[in-house]
Amino acid sequence: MASVSLRKLDKSYGALRIVKDIDLEIADGEFVVLVGPSGCGKSTTLRMVAGLESITGGEVRIGDRVVNSLPPRERDIAMVFQDYALYPHKTVRENLGFSLKVRGVGASESEARIAAAANMLGIAHLLDRRPGQLSGGQRQRVAMGRAIVRRPQVFLFDEPLSNLDAKLRGQVRTEIKKLHQALGTTIIYVTHDQVEAMTLADRIVILRGGNIEQVGTPDEVYNKPASIFVGGFVGSPAMNFARAKTAGGNLVFANGDHLALSALDAGGVSAAEGREFIVGIRPEHFVPASSSAADLSGQVQVVEPLGSDTLVHFALGDATLTARMPPQMRPRAGERLTIGLDPSKIHLFDAATERAIH
Ligand SMILES: Nc1ncnc2c1ncn2[C@@H]1O[C@H](COP(=O)(O)OP(=O)(O)OP(=O)(O)O)[C@@H](O)[C@H]1O
Ligand SMILES: [Mg+2]
Repeated sequence: MASVSLRKLDKSYGALRIVKDIDLEIADGEFVVLVGPSGCGKSTTLRMVAGLESITGGEVRIGDRVVNSLPPRERDIAMVFQDYALYPHKTVRENLGFSLKVRGVGASESEARIAAAANMLGIAHLLDRRPGQLSGGQRQRVAMGRAIVRRPQVFLFDEPLSNLDAKLRGQVRTEIKKLHQALGTTIIYVTHDQVEAMTLADRIVILRGGNIEQVGTPDEVYNKPASIFVGGFVGSPAMNFARAKTAGGNLVFANGDHLALSALDAGGVSAAEGREFIVGIRPEHFVPASSSAADLSGQVQVVEPLGSDTLVHFALGDATLTARMPPQMRPRAGERLTIGLDPSKIHLFDAATERAIH
């Protein structure tokens, strides 16, 4: 096993700078998840670690070796892509064993590793089948098994579950977590999926336009987002944002509703009169009106019953907010709604810089 260090890592294609001066220290055995919008440089970063993409500037270290100019096979990493290609004419057993054969691992050692990986992934009964005779989730587990038998220092996963349906995603996600708990191998994992990022990561790295926007544990990025970008990116349904101004010790929204500044987290916020903020409110932090310290009012636009709870979309001034409410709460579209809010749970961002105020 090994640590991975990215130091001033840079990537340009011609004049186009894609990855910008990234510094990231990943500890031995750590599970790090890279998230960010499409095109922000996640795959490029992973491919530079793998050695599949050249590095324009800075360095990649695996353990204590600088690997910038090492070919992929000498980096002791195993990568699982979204479009994992299994050999269609080989059995599962042969697919799993192929890389070991190429590396000259002996037959009995190879058999033992294949059996251990197959048991761990629940595919031991499928070893004599060919990929065409497997379900999508089973194929995905074979692809993972192929990486596991290698016993690499580092696993790199690039959206490995994105081809699976929701149920299988959930199952294989749990298997990946078990795998990490059992092997303790360092993992760098790219995903678009909020739930995967939150449930799998020791630390989440949020990338934006080739820069790191924030690095933190799932709790930190969810509870203390450094910017509007992170607040809106982590969490589902997404954090709500509404403009507000300070006036007379209150934070006043466009529709005139207000919250006392003194009731906000950390003993209140001192702010000059007329200062503009963007207020961030997570849908799950709204509560039925009577049980809260602060109320907001707006017109209901759309109501979405989900079974476990109800999403209520309502207008507050010119913003549309979403509240996650108890399942029995079913207001009607067009109705005026008063909804409660725990003021200690709201997030404040500077309207100009979009950075969090703490
Ligand atoms: N060979 C290339 N030449 C020029 N530009 C490239 C090349 N490969 C990737 N890019 C650009 O680099 C940027 C980052 O691509 P990358 O594949 O790393 O994004 P990503 O974060 O993985 O996105 P996605 O979530 O869509 O997979 C994109 O704007 C992409 O168009
Ligand atoms: Mg990608």
